Amino acid sequence: MDFSTEACDWNKAADSTLLDAKSDCIVVGVFDAQTLFGAAKRLDSITNGLVRRLVKSGDLGRKTGATLMLHEVDGVGASRVLLVGLGKPDALDPKTFTNVARAAWHAVLATRTTSVMWMLTQVTVNDRNSGWSARMSVLTLRELVYQYTRTKSSPAADEPHGSAIKRVIVVVNPGDKKVARIALKEGIAISNGIDLTRELGNLPSNICTPTYLADVAKQLAKDWNLMVEVLNRQQIEALRMGAFLSVAKGSPQLPQFIILQYQPFGEKQAPVVLIGKGITFDSGGISIKPGENMDEMKYDMCGAGSVLGTFRTIAEMGLKLNIIGLIPTCENMPSGYANKPGDIVTSLSGQTIEILNTDAEGRLILCDALTYAERFKPAAVIDIATLTGACVIALGSHNSGLFSKDDALADRLLAAGRYALDPAWRLPIDDEYCGQLKSNFADMANIGGRPASSVTAACFLSHFTKTYPWAHLDIAGTAWKSGSKKGATGRPVSLLTQFLIDWAK
Ligand code: BES
Ligand code: MN
Ligand code: ZN
Repeated sequence: MDFSTEACDWNKAADSTLLDAKSDCIVVGVFDAQTLFGAAKRLDSITNGLVRRLVKSGDLGRKTGATLMLHEVDGVGASRVLLVGLGKPDALDPKTFTNVARAAWHAVLATRTTSVMWMLTQVTVNDRNSGWSARMSVLTLRELVYQYTRTKSSPAADEPHGSAIKRVIVVVNPGDKKVARIALKEGIAISNGIDLTRELGNLPSNICTPTYLADVAKQLAKDWNLMVEVLNRQQIEALRMGAFLSVAKGSPQLPQFIILQYQPFGEKQAPVVLIGKGITFDSGGISIKPGENMDEMKYDMCGAGSVLGTFRTIAEMGLKLNIIGLIPTCENMPSGYANKPGDIVTSLSGQTIEILNTDAEGRLILCDALTYAERFKPAAVIDIATLTGACVIALGSHNSGLFSKDDALADRLLAAGRYALDPAWRLPIDDEYCGQLKSNFADMANIGGRPASSVTAACFLSHFTKTYPWAHLDIAGTAWKSGSKKGATGRPVSLLTQFLIDWAK
């Protein structure tokens, strides 16, 4: 799919070249109002009031995001014209714009359109510039076009056939061309990262093993000139990552510890470290989970997937920032070798942990990665994990849970999530909660009981983060969808990328 930009000033009487130009479809936004603006106004005048008549007749539904596909409109070079309802003028907030864009792409994808002239990027969106609109235009299209096919012998008949779209011209107002061109590149890079994250999440655990994730990291490194190191079990043992190893030892699948380095500034800048939970299947271990929906525990590596996806994105963008990715990855399985409730392990930090529930395994693999992160003298560390079912209960599927004792870091992440429409919601992590992790037999227990269990999970992690600013994202509710639309979402690649773009400034 090729994206490019064109500028057009509809106030210039002579400038109708874009309406004359040949394409399969032009996409024009129409506000619900007496007066038309921009492309819609010009289209209306060259068609002797067609747009106005369609609005008046009610055929273009009054709902925001309503679409009407017209064919062979006289005076227009394109063979199709898609009108898209924008609602009341001035009321286009970022979320509405995104929903409108989705609806428009959906209508275009229902046809065999191969080339699109996209005019929605000329509409003003509250608190956003045209770069944002251009980026979102790419993201919404690519989100709809992604299809999981890897383990299907033929695409199911009831699924949309992949996109026919080959070429998209994003039309912007004069003066916005440069911003838009950069934004399209960002949009493509972010979409590529999201696609990777979705694909890894969707793959079953018998394909997407710890070794598979390590191979993906190695391939990324090769393709994008990153440094990669993968530690095997012996090396992880030599490091004494006792908490991580204790989870891994229940499965014949070997654990891997992946280290990715993207360092355009070499040693000269303290890096941001991203740590992703990479449990490729979470059965619960000896504290085994109930059978219902257990298949979804193949998604328990989505934190790791989002780190790999974000690396793909920032490398493609050539972001000017040192970034390290750490991925502890293994399976959590019951067996004669597995952790048992009451077992006590020694973490890389030297702190001992009483494992009261073997299903609270994410924190056990993350804590050793958090300690390992110290060696990079990081400017900040963010871990991303499908950590607690309680986070799904608290926040559902709209917001990721954000935990941090560092207000400045938390605010940066919240702002990035809001801007990118990949939002997070901050939950507390006060010392009072941390008391719930007291153990009679070790320095701490790995669970703190049912009350606020997402918070006590974050408290647990905080014991390993004393030497740097740290934040934890619980993506248990946002990383994938359940039900008939079951599938990975690619979140929070957008949030993380925006956070890193802002940090690099
Ligand atoms: N991977 C799960 C968290 C999870 C559960 C994510 C359901 C999405 C949906 C995690 O390893 C886990 O099992 N957490 C336990 C912790 C508990 C034992 C304290 C949980 O949330 O039930
Ligand atoms: Mn678990
Ligand atoms: Zn888990």
